[in-house]
Amino acid sequence: ANPKPHYIIGVSQCSADIWREKQNAELRMGAYCQENVELRFAAAHDSDERQVQQIDSLVDSGIDLLIVAPNQLKTISSAIDRAYDKGIPVIVFERKTNSQKYTSFISADNYEMGRIMGEYIASRLHGKGRVMEIMGLKGSSPAIERHNGFADALKNYPDITVVATLQGDWTEESAVKAVKAYPGNLDHIDFVFGQNDRMAMGARRALQESQQLTADSHQPLYCGIDGLPGEDGGIRLVRDSILDASYIYPTHGDKIIELAINILEGKPYEKEALLQSALVTRDNAKVLLMQSEEMMHQAEYLDQLHSRADTYLKELATQHVVNWMSMGV
Ligand code: FRU
Repeated sequence: ANPKPHYIIGVSQCSADIWREKQNAELRMGAYCQENVELRFAAAHDSDERQVQQIDSLVDSGIDLLIVAPNQLKTISSAIDRAYDKGIPVIVFERKTNSQKYTSFISADNYEMGRIMGEYIASRLHGKGRVMEIMGLKGSSPAIERHNGFADALKNYPDITVVATLQGDWTEESAVKAVKAYPGNLDHIDFVFGQNDRMAMGARRALQESQQLTADSHQPLYCGIDGLPGEDGGIRLVRDSILDASYIYPTHGDKIIELAINILEGKPYEKEALLQSALVTRDNAKVLLMQSEEMMHQAEYLDQLHSRADTYLKELATQHVVNWMSMGV
C-alpha cells in the first residue's frame, strides 16, 4: 500500500487567550492521533493586519489546509479568498467571513446563545428590570449574532429595559474601560450580560469600583458566555456565585481536526457543522466543573504520554545508529 501522505495544517487564530489555548491544545491532541499531520499555529492578537499577513505566510509555507477564526467579518476575507483560490481547502471556525470562499464552517450557534441568555435573564428578573449589555469586538460575527439573539429575546418582555449596550472588544480590560467611560446613570442595574465571561468580569470590576455603587446599594447580577473549565474559567465563577450564569462556547479542536482529515482524504463532511452547547447555572456548575477538570487531567496525561513516546522513539533511533556503527558497518 502507498504510505499515507503527510499533511501540513495551518491554524490562524484571531486572538490569544484561555479559550484559544484550550482549543489549540485540543487541536494538537487531535493531530497526535493522526500520525501524518503537522500543525503550524499563528495568533494575530486581535489585529486584522497581522492576521492577513499570517495567513499569507502560512499559505506561502506550503500548507495543505487552512483552519481560520477571522478577527472580523470583512477584514480577513481577502486573505482567506487568496488561500481558497490557490486550491487550499479552508475551514472557517467560530467567527464568520463575509465571503463564500470556504470549504466548511464549524461553530456553535451564536444567535441562539444570545437568545438563550436573554430568555435566562428575563426569567431571573421575572420579566421586569434594567439590563446592560457589553458587546464583543465590533465587526466580529459572534458579537453581532449574540447581540441580535439577545435583543430578539428581550422584545417579548416590555418591562425589561436595556439601559445601555456598551462596546467592548472581547477582553476584560475593554469592558472595564467601556463601563468607566459610560456617562449615564449606572445605579439600579439589575443584570449585566457580558458577551463573554471575561467582559462580564470586567464590567463587574468596573461597577464595583465605581463610586456610584456603595456597599449597600443594589448589586447587579452578571452573566457571560464561554463557560471554560479551570481556575480562571466561567464554570468555576458560576459555581462560586461570582457570575450568575454562563454558556459553554465549545472549543472542540478534536472535531475540527476530524473535519480537516475528512476534507483532506476526500471523505464526506458537512459544509456547515453545528457544535452543541449548554447553559451553565449554579445548579449544574459543580458537576460540570468536576467532569471538565477530570477531562483536562486526562488530556494532560495523554500529552505527557505523547512526549515520552516521542523521546523514546528518538532514543530508539539513536540506538539504531549506535548499533549499526558498532557493527563496524
Ligand atoms: C476567545 C473569544 C471568546 C469569545 C469568542 C468570540 O478569543 O474572545 O471569549 O466567546 O472569542 O469569537
